[in-house]
Amino acid sequence: MNQSISDSAAWRALEAAGQRLRPQHLTDLFAADATRFQRFSRQLGDLLFDFSKQRIDAAALGALLDLAKARNVGDGIAQLAGGEMLNFTEGRAAQHMALRATTPVFVAGADVLPEVLGTRARMREIATALRNGELRGARGKVIRHVVNIGIGGSDLGPRVAARALSAVEPGATRVSFVANIDPFELDVVLATASADETLFIVASKTFTTQETLTNAQAARAWLQSQLGAATDLAPHFVAVSNNIEAARAFGIPAERCIALPEWVGGRYSMWSAIGLSVACAIGWEGFEQLLGGAREADNHLTSAPLENNLPVLMALLGIWNTNFLGCGSHAVLSYSQRLADLPSYLQQLEMESNGKRVDRDGNPLTCATSPILWGGAGTVGQHAYHQLLYQGTLTVPIDFIVPVGNDAPAQRMLIENALAQSAALMQGRNEAQARAQLAASGKPESEIARLTPHLLSPGNQPSSTLLFPRLTPHALGRLIALYEHKTFVQGWIWGINSFDQYGVELGKLMARALGGGSDSAPPDGSTAGLLAAIRTMRG
Ligand code: F6P
Repeated sequence: MNQSISDSAAWRALEAAGQRLRPQHLTDLFAADATRFQRFSRQLGDLLFDFSKQRIDAAALGALLDLAKARNVGDGIAQLAGGEMLNFTEGRAAQHMALRATTPVFVAGADVLPEVLGTRARMREIATALRNGELRGARGKVIRHVVNIGIGGSDLGPRVAARALSAVEPGATRVSFVANIDPFELDVVLATASADETLFIVASKTFTTQETLTNAQAARAWLQSQLGAATDLAPHFVAVSNNIEAARAFGIPAERCIALPEWVGGRYSMWSAIGLSVACAIGWEGFEQLLGGAREADNHLTSAPLENNLPVLMALLGIWNTNFLGCGSHAVLSYSQRLADLPSYLQQLEMESNGKRVDRDGNPLTCATSPILWGGAGTVGQHAYHQLLYQGTLTVPIDFIVPVGNDAPAQRMLIENALAQSAALMQGRNEAQARAQLAASGKPESEIARLTPHLLSPGNQPSSTLLFPRLTPHALGRLIALYEHKTFVQGWIWGINSFDQYGVELGKLMARALGGGSDSAPPDGSTAGLLAAIRTMRG
């Protein structure tokens, strides 16, 4: 990392390309090139990645690929796949790809495949027994409800996958998620739970996370209150952790603990035993298909040339929008209610990975890094925040996630809406169109003149569309792994360690310092004032 990224020739070429393209409108780029869609779309299996609505041209894409080469992206990918110690600040590899492997994978010289397969066998055993009605609680009742207690990477991935893929028919295995230390979330789940039929998966890599331990203790207290203090609660708990000692100290026997390897980061861990709740929700075959989809993305990452490599292109387009078009946010809009939680998952993935300000050598970065990722499900967002996308003052790059689905009328309308939004946000509405619309609604000329400015929409919002036939486990695994790899490639190009998260420690330490029994002085006048107000409000 000797040379700062913004001093490189590739960066300067991109700055020039940015200056050239910033004033141009996407509709003009389409008008000038009838082959734009063909030139700026790629296929991975049955997934189509259309980035023709990004504000690039062939020269800009070439310059972005030059940047990738100048930053040795190929070398980074080889190091990731080769189990190198990429998370060097924490002294760990980042080997989430090993979790979906079927052939030997080496981490620090040792083949981890046997460990991975052993974990999969245990997950399969539990998930299959559960779904066959063979898992029983302390008083002999069949377990029908799984509650995953975890937070961050021990919650968001399984939550998005379970919601995306669970069956909705009556009698389907119920899987719930509890993350927040706010007791409301657990209370809501417990309000309709039967203690006899409930299994808690305590998912925590460290088994020290305040929220997870607090919720696990509350779950245990609830079980005791429902089943009797003398009841052996072991049949109602499974722990997934890298800290088996702590899980045992909590009271979960070793044979009910599944180990999480050291070399997987929390936000990359849904493919490990952290995904047990997903396997319970969708069955083992479905979980294998989820892994298979991720593996397709892995093979693609490591074998496709840069210009056809989807995660590399996604990363480069993000860099283009952030660093050369000045966009500070990035929206992910899923045209599937089942994917409503995807932005929350991607927020942790991208913002915890690449929300950094120093390079791998510890030098301050000279360019912006991760944008703010946000989003939601279409069509719901169309009746809320899309107004800003049409007429606000910000340029917001968007990923439209579109599983085509079946031909039923509502599903067709959903997909038509997705395409309409990406087209309309690109085209906008000019004065002639605004006037024509007002005239068509019978407005007199004076009204047309008065209202026209309020109808104008500049368009030119850049977007990519990820289109695939159906939201299957395979398709979801592939989609999520593509974003994992995009995040890595982006971080690698920016020159940062995408795998640590030291930033989040400060708030945790502060919360502890403010915690019960602590006699340390409030850290500042505002906090002191707020604490005093809280004491008053609590009476
Ligand atoms: O606070 C951040 C974090 O460390 C995440 O990176 C992680 O996914 C989450 O907390 C939960 O950690 P654990 O699985 O150890 O409970």
